[in-house]
Amino acid sequence: MNRVIAPSILSANFENLKQDLLACEKAGADWIHVDVMDGHFVPNITFGPLIVEACKRSTSLPLDVHLMVEDPDSMIEAYAKAGADRLTVHQEACVHLDRTIQHIKSFNVKAGVSINPATSPIVLTEVIDQLDLVLVMTVNPGFGGQSFIPNSLKKIRTIRQEIRRLGLDTWLEVDGGISQATLPAVLEAGANAFVAGNAVFNHPEGIETAIRKIKEMF
Ligand code: DX5
Ligand code: ZN
Repeated sequence: MNRVIAPSILSANFENLKQDLLACEKAGADWIHVDVMDGHFVPNITFGPLIVEACKRSTSLPLDVHLMVEDPDSMIEAYAKAGADRLTVHQEACVHLDRTIQHIKSFNVKAGVSINPATSPIVLTEVIDQLDLVLVMTVNPGFGGQSFIPNSLKKIRTIRQEIRRLGLDTWLEVDGGISQATLPAVLEAGANAFVAGNAVFNHPEGIETAIRKIKEMF
């Protein structure tokens, strides 16, 4: 199975973001994960479209943009135009999820849907075949450096089974508390896209070693 690592720049050094992005690229990172937080859906505020534009100019890696916002529909166009290659919205934030997915696709951007730790994968049943990616939150969203929630493993297995049953090639991404320690369990459960913030950018041996060590486990 094809597997990808997506370093989350939430934990990067913003005094020199480009340097960190280049280190990711050099070490073989596959995507760059950008966590957009609006201070409403989650209790933190992070990146506007200007930062996504700056990332786009600084790296050739695809930008995997995770919208942790209350009203994703109002922001999709701005982030698509800023250079997002994939836009992931939260099911919990979308009253008309099907419409939101079509809205993302109308900009020729890949569409993802994320679910929080307390959300059942059942909510994805009617839309999974339209998605490029399902993102299972393995922490409660809002902050980097939190501990992995082991209960999410069952959910990852359930979604992997559904992807197989339907013969889809949807990415199954995990986000939160992913490190060399938690990777074996999520790999075994069937995830194939791995977001890592703290484990990459705060690794004692540096960004490149961190990414290489994770990729060796694939
Ligand atoms: C959490 C974010 C994550 C976060 C993961 O709300 O969606 O992408 O950066 O960070 P770590 O890997 O440090 O748990
Ligand atoms: Zn994220």
